[in-house]
Parts: sequence; C-alpha cells; structure tokens
Amino acid sequence: MKIAIGNDHVGIEMKPVIKEYLEELGYETIDYGTHSNERTDYPKYGEAVAKAIKNKEADLGILICGTGVGISIAANKVNGIRAVVCSEPYTAKLSKEHNNTNILAFGSRVIGNDLAKMIVKSWLEAEFEGGRHQGRIDYIQNMEDEYLC
Ligand code: RB5
Repeated sequence: MKIAIGNDHVGIEMKPVIKEYLEELGYETIDYGTHSNERTDYPKYGEAVAKAIKNKEADLGILICGTGVGISIAANKVNGIRAVVCSEPYTAKLSKEHNNTNILAFGSRVIGNDLAKMIVKSWLEAEFEGGRHQGRIDYIQNMEDEYLC
C-alpha cells in the first residue's frame, strides 16, 4: 500500500519520523513536500496529497501542519477526499471505520511524535465497516458532486 505524505514548514521535523515509522510498518511512502523549513503555504501540500489519491498514485494520505486544520481543509476541497484531523487514536480509528477517511492530518504543534505514531497505527489498522455507513458516505459524495464541481 502506498501512502502519500505532505506537510508545510511547521511539519518538517515530524515528517521524517512518521515516514520512517510507516516504512517500518511495511508501507511505501511518496513524499509531496515541502522539503525545507522555509516558510510556505499549507494548501499546496494538502492539494498535492489529495490529488495523488484522486489520481490513484497513492492509496491513502497523511498531512502535517501546525494544527492539521488548514492542510486538511485544503485537501477536503478535492472531490472524493475525506480528510480528518486527529489528536488521539480513538477518533482516527472511528474515522476510518465509519467515515472511510482517506487522509489523516495532525498538528506538529499539538501532539508529539509518539502520539502521532499511535494515531497513524490506529488509523491504518482500522477498516471501513460499510453497511449503514455507506449511505452516509454516498450522501457526502453526492454533495461533493453538486457543490465541489
Ligand atoms: C503556519 O503558521 C500554520 O498556520 C499552519 O502550519 C497550520 O497550522 C494551519 O492550519
């Protein structure tokens, strides 16, 4: 499974820790930047990772900015993307089981590396349950088709 990863300058120090952890768990990573700590704009990286999933270059994505908020808002503007911001593993797990999230975001100013790894693991190990949740995802997809085009 391929995981697209993206971050702004605030996420630059946490990214290698998460990349290394993903590789340890057996995932292939594709890094969409940023690659330096020079100030930049988080929407670019939210867009790049979201597009990678939409175009099937990657299966899932992980985004890091100061809070995880801006970068996930940007990613959610791409049709078919369901990005969630998490600061703890329970929401990460449920966001996959119930909401079939395809991008996980978190903030390097909010959580530390060890908690970020726990969140990543819970999210990746969880599986979408389908059933009653599918209709709700379909509803959201219909909204995207109507309003995001
Ligand atoms: C950058 O200062 C900061 O605004 C960004 O990393 C992020 O937290 C935005 O949501």
